[in-house]
Amino acid sequence: MSEQTQILLLNGPNLNLLGSREPAIYGAMTLAEIEARAARHAARYGVSLRAMQSNHEGALIDAIHEARTWAHGLIINAGAYTHTSIALRDAISSAALPAVEVHLSNIHAREPFRHHSYLAAVCLGQICGFGWRSYLLGIDALLGHLGLLPEP
Ligand code: DQA
Repeated sequence: MSEQTQILLLNGPNLNLLGSREPAIYGAMTLAEIEARAARHAARYGVSLRAMQSNHEGALIDAIHEARTWAHGLIINAGAYTHTSIALRDAISSAALPAVEVHLSNIHAREPFRHHSYLAAVCLGQICGFGWRSYLLGIDALLGHLGLLPEP
């Protein structure tokens, strides 16, 4: 594992459509722009961020397994798999990497089927409802956990 702290930003299904997908709910920013902002935010703390998106559950699981060899932590927006995937939950707990769950929208203020997350219990915590800023808040939460943020 490299000396520099490295984190994985993982986005799940349909998040590749950000920018044009239901902008009233998810905002107008593209995923590429969110990833760039997240990488710049992490870089302020000397942390490098690798971003990956997939619409396929198995590919997300493979990315989490692979992250065991190089990453110090994980930020994950699993999209709808949040509400359905025990396999993704098991991948996070098997990887034993600190993880933060993020969502653009406030899933608790939406349809009842979005209120439950299979991932929340194996993550440090969940951040939702702040649009693209949820990702930056997630990074702060992860870096705080890793002891990389200055004390206030
Ligand atoms: C989402 C919320 C999920 O319920 C939904 O399926 C998504 C996006 C969010 O970021 O708000 O795809 O994870």
